[in-house]
Amino acid sequence: MTMAAPIVDTEGVSVSESVSALPTAPEPTGRVVVVTGGTDGMGRALVLARAERGDQVVAIGSNPAKGEALLAEAAGRGAAGHVRFVRADLATVEGNRRVIEETLHHHGAIDALALFANRQAPRRTLTRDGLEATWALYYLSRYLLGHGFRAALEASAAPVIVNVSGVGVTKGSIHWDDLQLERGYAMVAAQLQAGRANDLLGVAFAEHGDSKARYVLYHPGFTRSGDLSPLPLMLRAGIRAAARIWARPIPDSIRAIHQFIDTPPAAALTAVDRNTHLPLTFRTLDPRDAARLAGLTEKLLAALPSNP
Ligand SMILES: NC(=O)c1ccc[n+]([C@@H]2O[C@H](COP(=O)([O-])OP(=O)(O)OC[C@H]3O[C@@H](n4cnc5c(N)ncnc54)[C@H](OP(=O)(O)O)[C@@H]3O)[C@@H](O)[C@H]2O)c1
Repeated sequence: MTMAAPIVDTEGVSVSESVSALPTAPEPTGRVVVVTGGTDGMGRALVLARAERGDQVVAIGSNPAKGEALLAEAAGRGAAGHVRFVRADLATVEGNRRVIEETLHHHGAIDALALFANRQAPRRTLTRDGLEATWALYYLSRYLLGHGFRAALEASAAPVIVNVSGVGVTKGSIHWDDLQLERGYAMVAAQLQAGRANDLLGVAFAEHGDSKARYVLYHPGFTRSGDLSPLPLMLRAGIRAAARIWARPIPDSIRAIHQFIDTPPAAALTAVDRNTHLPLTFRTLDPRDAARLAGLTEKLLAALPSNP
């Protein structure tokens, strides 16, 4: 018998885990893997595959129905008890803080943090913190989680952060004087800006020479995944048609991520665009820009009303 058992439900974060009476659980590896965007697409596939291998997986998403379906799928694959679902809105600073608190309550060490969460926003939308939503979810959440889990990552023997975004793309830019895109918003520009910000986030994290955690920037390429529901109907149809022809199947896109988790690279920073390792001199990985963005991000966080 399998069921999902709610454990915590406090102000926007609730947690469930799959439990089962069947003695089918895989041999535990002892590895703890935290996956944002673990309820859909590539993140979901990674959660299930790692659970089947015996890792303890924390899967984060905002949609409780998707979370319950994920737990049922894990149980159906004999990986019951290996997945905890944490429901949270990662577009808010508070949502990220609570995920960090809740996860650290259960796990003193984290071996891998895999960052997938993202959502297209056709119109400029502000989060509860007053931040542009794509910036907040696709970039700032990854900044907060990387730093918030730092001590737990250090407690692992071979920790790794895998930031799944768009390294290798040179389109788009950081709008240094308008990070929140107040003076002109377009969905693609917002996605590209957050993508470039993630490139710089990896550089800044790795420049902190005192961390044991290896940072991997990984671009999966066009993949048959992606929640297209926020997009206009015609655009959705076009992307789906193109995906049938050109996109990679999800298992192909996440294969490399298993390698990064099983055997983290020796270098502090690794950038991989599909199957190609990029030189760290790649133009979106400029250390001065990375330091500049890290400084602006700290200032922006310090100025938020939610920060006492
Ligand atoms: N698919 C591609 O062709 C492609 C190409 C290059 C790069 N990428 C990058 O790869 C990553 C994964 O892509 P994908 O196609 O697998 O994505 P996806 O299928 O659209 O899944 C996105 C995930 O993010 C979660 N999410 C969205 N908003 C959230 C919020 N506010 N709080 C918490 N979780 C939230 C969703 O969960 P809920 O619905 O439960 O909230 C879902 O689990 C993304 O960063 C994307 O930019 C994708």
